[in-house]
Amino acid sequence: MIRIQNLQHRYPDGTDALRGIDLVISKGEFLLICGPNGSGKTTLLRIMGGLLEPSDGSVLINGFDSSKNVLEARRSVGMVFQDPDCQIVGETVREDVAFGPENLGLSKEEINQRVDGVLSKMGLAELSEKPCDLLSGGEKRRLAIAGVLAMSPEVLLFDEPFSYLDYPGVREVLRHMIQLHREGHTLIVTTHDVEKVMAHVDRMAILQAGEIKASGTPEQLVGELRRFGVRPPCYALEARERMTWLD
Ligand SMILES: Nc1ncnc2c1ncn2[C@@H]1O[C@H](COP(=O)(O)OP(=O)(O)OP(=O)(O)O)[C@@H](O)[C@H]1O
Ligand SMILES: [Mg+2]
Repeated sequence: MIRIQNLQHRYPDGTDALRGIDLVISKGEFLLICGPNGSGKTTLLRIMGGLLEPSDGSVLINGFDSSKNVLEARRSVGMVFQDPDCQIVGETVREDVAFGPENLGLSKEEINQRVDGVLSKMGLAELSEKPCDLLSGGEKRRLAIAGVLAMSPEVLLFDEPFSYLDYPGVREVLRHMIQLHREGHTLIVTTHDVEKVMAHVDRMAILQAGEIKASGTPEQLVGELRRFGVRPPCYALEARERMTWLD
């Protein structure tokens, strides 16, 4: 359903962020794209979401080119940004979630129905009248996800969804992701912190210096991560020396 062909991106200052990405993502797949800081994860997601035009190559979503059909791309692909503050536009939680559906030109009833559904799904119903700038980091992350869900996109892109979250917050976002995957959405998650999500994905791809270096199941790639600058998960909790982040 998503076909990325020879995708390249050079920023105006000359940085080559993506250097020829080829990747096919099936409908309903849960894909993890991991890679160290600066490897091109956010750039790749922004191009997939129709928020950035690539320098070369293409992203085909259900057969249409996302950079040539920007409106269509934005309708079928929703992106949860790395920094939730960049995504929140409404004054209150409810207004923020309603913003997307309002822009889709839906009727008032349909908007209210969607907003109520998404607020309760993301556990934000109690906070619906709260000003967004007073929310905690974890609540902002949930709000950002709610805002995207209200558009009901087929494909969901999550850019570093676990940053700012505590242990319960990570588990909660993870549970929502797994549920969305079960409901049939295609999910693409980027992170350099793979251990939080690796157990649940269908496939992972390793990005380094703007290139996909490997792609396969978590079992196939777990041994490859370290050499591409990604910390492998530490499942052997009894081996204390293996738990350190400083090895
Ligand atoms: N607007 C920009 N102008 C110039 N260079 C940029 C711009 N945005 C990103 N870059 C560069 O492009 C490269 C890829 O950046 P990108 O944000 O896609 O990486 P990332 O994998 O998401 O990193 P992180 O894990 O830190 O979020 C980096 O070298 C970065 O410095
Ligand atoms: Mg990033």
